[in-house]
Amino acid sequence: MGREITGAPVQRQRPLRARAMFFSGTGTTEKVVTAVADRLAEELSGAVRAEDIDFTPPARRDRVWSFDGADIVVFGVPVIAGRVPNVLLPFLRTLEGGGALALPVVLYGNRNFDDALIELRDILEERGFHTVAAAAFIGEHSFSRVLAAGRPDERDMAIAEGFARQAAEKIRGLAEAANSADALAEAAYRAGPVGVDGMQPLRPYYTPRDRQGNPINILKVKPKLDEAKCTKCGICVSACPMGSIKEEAPGVVDGICIKCCGCEKKCPEGALYFDDPGYLYHKEELELGYPDRKEPTLFL
Ligand SMILES: Cc1cc2nc3c(=O)[nH]c(=O)nc-3n(C[C@H](O)[C@H](O)[C@H](O)COP(=O)(O)O)c2cc1C
Ligand code: SF4
Ligand code: SF4
Repeated sequence: MGREITGAPVQRQRPLRARAMFFSGTGTTEKVVTAVADRLAEELSGAVRAEDIDFTPPARRDRVWSFDGADIVVFGVPVIAGRVPNVLLPFLRTLEGGGALALPVVLYGNRNFDDALIELRDILEERGFHTVAAAAFIGEHSFSRVLAAGRPDERDMAIAEGFARQAAEKIRGLAEAANSADALAEAAYRAGPVGVDGMQPLRPYYTPRDRQGNPINILKVKPKLDEAKCTKCGICVSACPMGSIKEEAPGVVDGICIKCCGCEKKCPEGALYFDDPGYLYHKEELELGYPDRKEPTLFL
C-alpha cells in the first residue's frame, strides 16, 4: 500500500553504501547476507561495498548503530522458535535507520520461518528503515548436522545472487520513479514496506512438544564439556554471542545459553555436547519431521 509523503527530497552527496548487518551463531546467516550485499554493490552503479556489521559478539550490541539515506543494509538474523531471536529485541530497538533502505533476511532450519520475517521487517520499519525486498533462506539447523546439512549450498547461493539482482533492479526502478537518485529514500517510503509472509498479530514463539503434546522446556539447557578432549584453545569463548563462556574457563558455559550451537559446531575437538533428553528428543523430531528440502522464499 502506498503512503502520502510531504517535504522536499533529501539531497544525497555521497554514493550509496551496500553493507550486511547480521547476527549469526553458526555462520549461515552471515554467508547469505554478505553475498547479497556483495552482489548489490556490483549491480548498483556508483555504489560502494561498505564494511559489514556483525553483531553476534555481545560487545557489538553495546552501542547504537545509526544509518542514513545513503545506506542499503542487508539485515539478517536466524529464526529462533519461529521469530526474531528474543534476546536481540532490546538491541534492535536501539537502531537508528535514518531513512536507509533495508533488505530483511532470515535463515531458518528447514522447519518454518513462521513470523520471523514479518517481525524483522516491522522492527526495521519502526526504527526508520525503508524495507524494499526481503527473503527467507534455509541454513543447516543449528541443533543438527543432518537437517538441511551444508546449507546454504551452491543452489541457495545462486538464488541469493538472483535475489540481489532483482532487489537492485527494484531499487533502480524506485530511483527512476522518483525521477532522481537523490529521492530514493522518499520513493521507498512512498512504496511502503515490502510485503512478506507471516501473521499479524505475531503468533507466540514456537514450542517443541513431546509425543503426548506436552511442551518441552529447553530454556535452561546448555552444552556440556568433555574435559578430556578440550585443549583450552578459546574458540568457544569468542564464538558465544551471549558471552557465557569465560576466558578463564574455556568450554564451561556459566551464563545464558540460547542454544545457537556456535560453540559446539566451532569446537575443533568436538569437546562440547548436549545430553539433555528433551533437547535430544526435539532435535530428532525435527530431523525426522522435516526431511524434504525447502527452497528460499523471496519477496520483492
Ligand atoms: C533455539 C533455536 C531455535 C530455532 N528455531 C527454528 C525454527 O523455529 N524454525 C526453523 O526452521 N529453524 C529454527 N532454528 C534453526 C536456525 O534458524 C537455522 O539453523 C539458522 O540457519 C541458524 O542461523 P546461523 O547459522 O546464522 O546461526 C532454530 C535454531 C535455534 C538455535
Ligand atoms: S573450542 Fe573446544 S577445545 Fe577449544 S576451549 Fe572450547 S571446548 Fe575447549
Ligand atoms: S553457550 Fe549457548 S549461546 Fe553460547 S555459543 Fe554455546 S550454544 Fe551458543
